Amino acid sequence: KDRPIGVPDIRARKGGQPLVCLTAYTAPIAKLLDPHVDLLLVGDSLAMVVYGMDSTLGVSLDMMIAHGKAVTRSARHACVVVDLPFGSYEESPEQAYRAAARVLAETGCAAVKLEGGVALALTIRFLAERNIPVLAHIGLTPQSVNAFGGFRVQGRGEEEAARVMADAKAIEEAGAFAVVIEGVPEPLGRAITEAIDIPTIGIGASPACDGQILVTDDMLGLFSDFTPKFVKRFASLGASVEQAVQSYAAEVTARRFPGPEHCFGTAKPKGAA
Ligand code: KIV
Ligand code: NA
Repeated sequence: KDRPIGVPDIRARKGGQPLVCLTAYTAPIAKLLDPHVDLLLVGDSLAMVVYGMDSTLGVSLDMMIAHGKAVTRSARHACVVVDLPFGSYEESPEQAYRAAARVLAETGCAAVKLEGGVALALTIRFLAERNIPVLAHIGLTPQSVNAFGGFRVQGRGEEEAARVMADAKAIEEAGAFAVVIEGVPEPLGRAITEAIDIPTIGIGASPACDGQILVTDDMLGLFSDFTPKFVKRFASLGASVEQAVQSYAAEVTARRFPGPEHCFGTAKPKGAA
């Protein structure tokens, strides 16, 4: 590919071929995923997946920028989006602008993602009007874990569904180029996708969404502290890692590793060719 996928390309996929999206936090994983996905999200889920925290609230802007740089160094094809972490954007449009401008300038990513609907519409508009593309995130927004009282499906019941639908419409109106919809009843994910003109990217939403995203470590079976219903495991890399480490431990213990081929200046055994 001579040109990476840009924000307008993502925006143009509304109603078309589904957008293939995954998270990435490090250069080697980004390099493996990049040719096969449309969008790489440097998600603040790295709190749990990389740092062993129990929510995303402890992530700093500097952490997101460091991981954003690692991913943009490896990505040639996919559109790279970096999450704005908790506390870096909610206070005011100006605060959000300063955080987002740092992320774009220092990482070279294409866009930022932030959590929120109606309440963040002014901020999304402020950024979009100043050439900072925004991917919004509604429904089960993990930075709201304290307000929600846990990680639970959002938009159950008519009243709550209407609230999430209003969030979606406010985001579109404010100028977000796409929206992640997480943890909502399937019919609501479908209804939002039909109701707005920007691509919807589902995670625990609906197959009708304009794209899908998963946390890469979840779908690879590398992270298993908890596995939401919406995760499908496409591999069991955790088990492969365990097997490899057991073999290594056994070989080191038995002095079978390193072998002569792994050593410098090893004398060939007598009689060898
Ligand atoms: O942080 C993250 O990984 C995300 C995705 C799950 C959408 O926000
Ligand atoms: Na996130």
